[in-house]
Amino acid sequence: MNLPIDDAAASASLRVRVNRGRCQGHARCVALAPGLFELDAFGEAHEIADGWVSSGFEDKAWLAKANCPEFAIDIERRGEDA
Ligand code: F3S
Repeated sequence: MNLPIDDAAASASLRVRVNRGRCQGHARCVALAPGLFELDAFGEAHEIADGWVSSGFEDKAWLAKANCPEFAIDIERRGEDA
């Protein structure tokens, strides 16, 4: 179960971002972590809301990053500069 966005952001330690210049629409991120990514009308991914990862979903974020063939997913830890 996903937390409401405000609760998720408050407790999250990771944030995902899709580099839109790299994304080629392979959609593995959406298949592996549907609560974190979605596709736009052109079939390119973006992070849901502001990209904060709800507690318990961190593995999904790393799995999506590892499986993107275009290396288009960045993960930042809270407190790190983007
Ligand atoms: Fe794009 Fe990679 Fe997802 S190419 S659609 S960010 S798997």
